[in-house]
Amino acid sequence: MVDVPLCRVDELSDGVMRHYEHIGYDLLLVNLDGTFYCVDAACTFSWADLSQGVLDREKKGVVCPGCGGTFSLETGQPLAGPPKFPLEVYEVHVVGDDVVVTFVY
Ligand code: FES
Repeated sequence: MVDVPLCRVDELSDGVMRHYEHIGYDLLLVNLDGTFYCVDAACTFSWADLSQGVLDREKKGVVCPGCGGTFSLETGQPLAGPPKFPLEVYEVHVVGDDVVVTFVY
């Protein structure tokens, strides 16, 4: 397991989603109500970039900009729309001022 700092806490304010790359991983990092979530950035239906989508605060989800599928940020599971397969979910910790994601290579 490897812990990788992706950004500082103050660089991702509430409601912001951002795309990050880490050695070939395309990641979506989200601050939702002060909790950070990290999932794959590519929709499992047709690979649209989820960082271009919108947050669904009620469902704690991200809505795909492609054809509107929604994924849970907590579990990665599809909640609505065409996607059938889940996103990979990565563990996120705040360590000091950093948002740190844990990878299992
Ligand atoms: S590409 Fe994501 S729902 Fe269609």
